Amino acid sequence: MGDSGAIEFFILTLLPRYFDTPFSEAILGKACEKGLIRIRVVDMRDFTEGKHRVADDYPFGGSEGMVLKPEPIARALEAIPNDPQTPTRVILLTPQGAPFTQEVAGDISRQARVVLICGHYEGVDERVARSLVDQELSIGDYVLSGGEAAAAVVVEAVSRLVPGVLGNPESPVQDSFAGGLLKGPVYTRPREFRGWEVPPVLLGGDHDQIERWRRKEALRRTRNRRPDLWEKVVLTESDRELLAEIDSEDEDGGGNHESH
Ligand code: 6GU
Repeated sequence: MGDSGAIEFFILTLLPRYFDTPFSEAILGKACEKGLIRIRVVDMRDFTEGKHRVADDYPFGGSEGMVLKPEPIARALEAIPNDPQTPTRVILLTPQGAPFTQEVAGDISRQARVVLICGHYEGVDERVARSLVDQELSIGDYVLSGGEAAAAVVVEAVSRLVPGVLGNPESPVQDSFAGGLLKGPVYTRPREFRGWEVPPVLLGGDHDQIERWRRKEALRRTRNRRPDLWEKVVLTESDRELLAEIDSEDEDGGGNHESH
C-alpha cells in the first residue's frame, strides 16, 4: 500500500479499451469504488507525433516485427504527476522480465504509485528499460502479444494485498504461495456429489483436526504438483509426520487423488 493505504496505478498502453471492464467487476470494482485503488489508463498513442500517430518502428539491425519507439513512452511517463513524496515504481511488462511472484506483488503493494508499461510488438527500445524503468516483469514462460493481460494480472494480485480490499484480512495469509505451499482442496455442499464424498474430517467440527488435514493436503499437493516450490519449503517436525502419513497412504494406493 503506500502508508496512506491506497495505490494509484497508471497503465500505459496502446490498447486502452482493453481495460474497459476488467477492473469494474467484483473485488476490484469494489476497491475502486471505495477509493482503495485508483486506475488510470494512459493511451501512449496520445504521446506520438505527426498525423499518423506512429508508436513503433523497424528494429535496427533488421529482424522480424516492430519495436516500440522510446519517445511516446518517455512523454507519457513525464505526463504522470511527479510528486517526490509519493513512492513510485515504474514497471515494464515484458516476457524478458523477472518472474512476477507473490513476493514481488507484496513488494509492489508497499508503493503508493505504480506505473505499468505494456510492451508490444517485438519489444520496447532498450534505452527505455535502461533509463526510465525500475523493474521489468514477466507473468510466466509463455508469449503474449502485448503486456495488457500481464498488467491486469499485476493490478489484481497487488490490489488484493491493499488493506481493506479483501473482506477478511486473513485471506491473503491463507492463499496459495503465501506460506510457500499451494492451498489444499476445498469443498462445499452437497456432501455427496455424483458418488464423491466430502472428506469426513471437514464435517466433524474438530478445528485442530481440520487444520491438520489442510496442512497435510497442502503438503501433498505442493510436493506432487510443484517440485520448484517444494525445494524451498521449510518443513516443521509435524510436517514430517504428515509426510510420513502421506507416504504410507501412497503405499496403500489409497485415496491419493494427487498421484497420477
Ligand atoms: Cl509481461 N508480456 C508479454 N508480451 N508476454 C508475456 C509476459 C509479458 N509475461 C509472460 N508472457
